[in-house]
Amino acid sequence: MSATRQPNDKFRSNLGGVIARGDEISLHVDGVAVRAYAGETVAAAMMAAGIHRFRRSTRGSPRGVYCGIGICFECLVRIDGQPNLRACITYAADGMTVDRADGSASAERPPVNEES
Ligand code: FES
Repeated sequence: MSATRQPNDKFRSNLGGVIARGDEISLHVDGVAVRAYAGETVAAAMMAAGIHRFRRSTRGSPRGVYCGIGICFECLVRIDGQPNLRACITYAADGMTVDRADGSASAERPPVNEES
C-alpha cells in the first residue's frame, strides 16, 4: 500500500477560474505519490503537497526553495536518478521520481572544508 500526498489548496494560488490548471499528473517524492498539475514545477508540486524541505546541506541543515527562479541552488533534488537538479525550474511530469537529498548529496559533491 502506498500513500498519496494530496495537494493542499491552502498552499496553492487561487486562480479564480481565470487560468485553467493543466491535467492532473502524479509524481513520486521519496516513494510517496504526489498529485500535481501539468505546467507546475517540481517545487510547486512539492510545496502544494506540504513538502518544504527539499534536501539537507552537507552539515545537515534543512534546505528548500529560496529564490524560486533558479539562482540560489537551494532546491536541489534528484529527479529520475539525475542528481542536483533545481526543482524550482524543472517542470513536473507524470510518473517522475523525485528524491530529496538527506546527506547523500555529500557523496556527489566534494566535501565542504570545515576549516574555512
Ligand atoms: S529555489 Fe533557488 S534555485 Fe531553486
